[in-house]
Amino acid sequence: MCSPEHFAVEYAINPWMDVTAPVDAELAVKQWDRLRETLVGLGHEVHLLTPERGLPDMVYAANGAFVVDGTAYGAQFKHDQRAAEAAAHRAFYEAQGWRFIAPSETNEGEGDFAYLPEAHGGLILAGHGFRTELPAHAEAQEALGRPVVSLRLVDPRFYHLDVALASIDDTNIVYYPGAFSAASQRVLTQLFPDAVVADDEDALTFGLNLVSDGLNVVLNSEASRLAGKLKAAGYHPVPVELAELKKGGGSVKCCIAELRH
Ligand code: ARG
Repeated sequence: MCSPEHFAVEYAINPWMDVTAPVDAELAVKQWDRLRETLVGLGHEVHLLTPERGLPDMVYAANGAFVVDGTAYGAQFKHDQRAAEAAAHRAFYEAQGWRFIAPSETNEGEGDFAYLPEAHGGLILAGHGFRTELPAHAEAQEALGRPVVSLRLVDPRFYHLDVALASIDDTNIVYYPGAFSAASQRVLTQLFPDAVVADDEDALTFGLNLVSDGLNVVLNSEASRLAGKLKAAGYHPVPVELAELKKGGGSVKCCIAELRH
């Protein structure tokens, strides 16, 4: 995770960002702190990346790489405004002794990649259409040695996979069908017949942008209806308020890069 000390909305690279709306960076830090404390309270270890002035989106740490089996496949951001974040993530992984693979294709890390360790022995789901480009899916498969299923995103409000779909345990997902092409929806139905299916409201409240440890599902507090669906499916929803960071187009999952050994 990376503190939103320097968080701001200074440019608009997704439909949620409004450069004229005021942002309270101090409140963003408070809300982010609660998210960090929540993860620690659930027994997870949190490593911190040092935020850099001039990189206001650095708080969305999920975009810096995608880690599977101890290997980090690095990011290459689509927009110039975020390009410099990739080096900070790379330095983190290298300093911590992770195997790091530099990308040559445009991809925004875990923003567009999800991993299901027990589905078909380990399956990667990958989004394209807005940020990550299709050749990066093949590159990720070669880098990580796990099968990658490409899914096409079609709604600009859901410009990353992680605002439309999340793994909720080792084999299952929750997703919002409307964010995907008709063919990709069919692929998801085939692979995940028991998925929790979200609706417009769940998606617009950034409910899909969640992290789960298989039981506890940490999600945006606005997404109370989705929390109810997850509870009915046997999970334990843990709501966290992240209203300031929503102004940048992100929530819980965007703030967290998962380190998978
Ligand atoms: N403002 C950031 C962008 O548009 C938000 C990134 C959100 N991160 C995510 N993993 N969805 O790039």
